[in-house]
Amino acid sequence: MTPTTPPLPQLLATHRSIRSFKPQPIDADLIAEVLGEAVAGGSSSGNLNSFSMVLTQDEARKRRLYELHFEQEMVLQAPLVVTFCADFHRTRRWLARRGARDNFNNLIGWHVAAFDAMIVAQNACLGFEARGLGICYMGTTLHSMQAIADFLELPPTCLPVTSIVVGHPAEDPPKRDRLPLQAFIHHERYQDPADAELDAIYADREVKGWARYMSMPRLKALAEQEGITSLAQFYTSKVKYDPDTFAKDSAALRETLKARGFLQE
Ligand SMILES: Cc1cc2nc3c(=O)[nH]c(=O)nc-3n(C[C@H](O)[C@H](O)[C@H](O)COP(=O)(O)O)c2cc1C
Repeated sequence: MTPTTPPLPQLLATHRSIRSFKPQPIDADLIAEVLGEAVAGGSSSGNLNSFSMVLTQDEARKRRLYELHFEQEMVLQAPLVVTFCADFHRTRRWLARRGARDNFNNLIGWHVAAFDAMIVAQNACLGFEARGLGICYMGTTLHSMQAIADFLELPPTCLPVTSIVVGHPAEDPPKRDRLPLQAFIHHERYQDPADAELDAIYADREVKGWARYMSMPRLKALAEQEGITSLAQFYTSKVKYDPDTFAKDSAALRETLKARGFLQE
């Protein structure tokens, strides 16, 4: 850790996803240091370490990832893309070599490995951010899972869970707030809020989120075209988190989990 590394509370308080990057490359030693710390400092189910990280820095290969990530510009701009994979392939090879029973080629195995991959991903994000670099996750990984797995030549029981872009920030976006803390915390048992409380929880978000989308000419035009009049409607429209796309991609995900050995017929 360098002396200028901010303390964790400050790091969390200043987090923003960064989607625009300078062309400047990232020092190879710094990448190795951050990923090493992320691995060493992350809890791991059974300490099985059932994840892998695939680094993409080659321009031509990034261009293909750009296509697979729904042409998000940040993939082309960022000098580094890291794909975090749920990986029981390595463990299972080791088990086989020692004559142990096979396991983890099942749905629990998928979840165990996926959780490990997400834990190390967030640690890596904090490590990069602590050094002044910017990151953004890409949920498109889930929607292109099979194609990304093929492109990265992932073996059976190894699948991408999430990806991040990393680079030197070329923007300084404002901090985005979260729902109020009371929305997340329940004492002793789940307490479903009354309708009025639920409305209060979302009140600020509805105003700010709608204003943010309406400030973007492309989204404003799409909202008008689709007859969208509220933030909630946006979130399950054709524009964002389309339920039909989710249904189709969920079916594809099930098939991918089967094809890659994480889910039996
Ligand atoms: C799993 C995951 C997937 C995400 N996928 C995308 C993505 O595909 N494209 C994108 O621009 N941002 C993506 N984000 C970033 C979120 O939009 C962002 O974290 C959220 O809007 C809050 O903003 P902040 O990170 O600046 O606080 C993703 C975040 C997470 C955790």
